[in-house]
Amino acid sequence: MTFAAITGWGAAMPPNVLSNADLSTFLDTNDEWITSRTGMKERRISHVGATEMATLAAKRALACAGVDAKDVDLIVFGSCSPDEQVPNSASGVQVAIGATRAASMDLNTACTSFLYSLSTANAMIRTGVVRTAIVIGVEHISPYMDWGNRNVAVLFGDGCAAVVVQATDKEEGLLGEQLGCVADARHTLRVRGMGSGYTNSGVMLGDTEWDFDGQEIFKRAVQGMVQASQAVMQKCGVTPDDIDLVVPHQANLRIIEAVVQRAGLPMDKVMLTVQRYGNMSAATVPVALNDALVEGRVKPGALILMPAFGAGLTMCSHLVRWGDRVTPIATIPDEMPASKLSALDLVNKIRDRKSQSHEASHDGLQGARLIGAK
Ligand SMILES: CC(C)(COP(=O)(O)OP(=O)(O)OC[C@H]1O[C@@H](n2cnc3c(N)ncnc32)[C@H](O)[C@@H]1OP(=O)(O)O)[C@@H](O)C(=O)NCCC(=O)NCCS
Repeated sequence: MTFAAITGWGAAMPPNVLSNADLSTFLDTNDEWITSRTGMKERRISHVGATEMATLAAKRALACAGVDAKDVDLIVFGSCSPDEQVPNSASGVQVAIGATRAASMDLNTACTSFLYSLSTANAMIRTGVVRTAIVIGVEHISPYMDWGNRNVAVLFGDGCAAVVVQATDKEEGLLGEQLGCVADARHTLRVRGMGSGYTNSGVMLGDTEWDFDGQEIFKRAVQGMVQASQAVMQKCGVTPDDIDLVVPHQANLRIIEAVVQRAGLPMDKVMLTVQRYGNMSAATVPVALNDALVEGRVKPGALILMPAFGAGLTMCSHLVRWGDRVTPIATIPDEMPASKLSALDLVNKIRDRKSQSHEASHDGLQGARLIGAK
């Protein structure tokens, strides 16, 4: 039987840090509120686009796996904030890394996009359609943030990580997953202005407003992640005691605590990044997985549970058996480009731009490099 092992991993984090104190320079909020209600201390704001972050993460993951870009069959770009809709962003990564043989697709289930992308790649590998895939979780959400709304502006950040998934005969990689969507709650999280449905609606492109019912999402998220985690453990015949590491979506420390407690898992088995990166939507789980590997928290043969939820409200929980190797085969010298602006400068530019959104798409301030643009 063919399985799909995770053999490479790499992150590409924006260098610019936005602290709680930075947020309180333009919002009626403070470090005490944000820390006690969410666990967040800081998040990153990117000065480059999602494709550029994804390209670096993909290169790092390929080096880690010892795989040549020319041997990649599939690239799945999990994100709700791609640089472009047409062409898709996976093709931008493909041309930038030279994966000439690959098929490329974007996949959007909001915060769960990386895990749904992993399911997609896993299914295609296990059914013999492809043998080697790059799965990316990336988000450049800061240009779409409603920076005047303290209910949401404090929660999100930008970031990216990628994994390489390869066909193997060993029982490794994704052992099972539970997917679902609580669609009757889809109105609880909506970004107005992202999509053709807003044509002539009075919402300017780039002038996004968020519908956000935090308490309702909180409840649904806890229920959904607990149910999905219990279902996948049952399906795979494992108990909470068998789980070595939990790498959850990180929307709020209190959500994570509620999920692991109800699922019968101890907090010391949980990989936490919420303090330093906030909620990076699709990038959250792969960045946390990457950091867990870098910090030595993934042991050979480890059983890893990855529960997540996102707008839709999409829900899932994935169970992964890690392989023998927990260190990279190789690394690359490439780094994220330096930024002339601080995170707060970048956010203030986006805020200024909201009132002048016509000029916004032409001044290049966010620096999204459109791969292949003339
Ligand atoms: C958003 C969230 C942190 C709010 O926490 P909460 O404990 O439910 O807080 P509440 O919404 O009850 O707000 C409590 C008070 O704090 C205020 N408040 C909200 N945001 C604030 C902020 N950033 N700073 C200061 N005060 C804030 C509210 O206005 C409210 O004031 P009031 O009591 O005078 O009306 C929490 O509900 C949550 O994490 N929800 C899910 C997260 C999520 O959806 N993530 C995205 C999906 S992946």
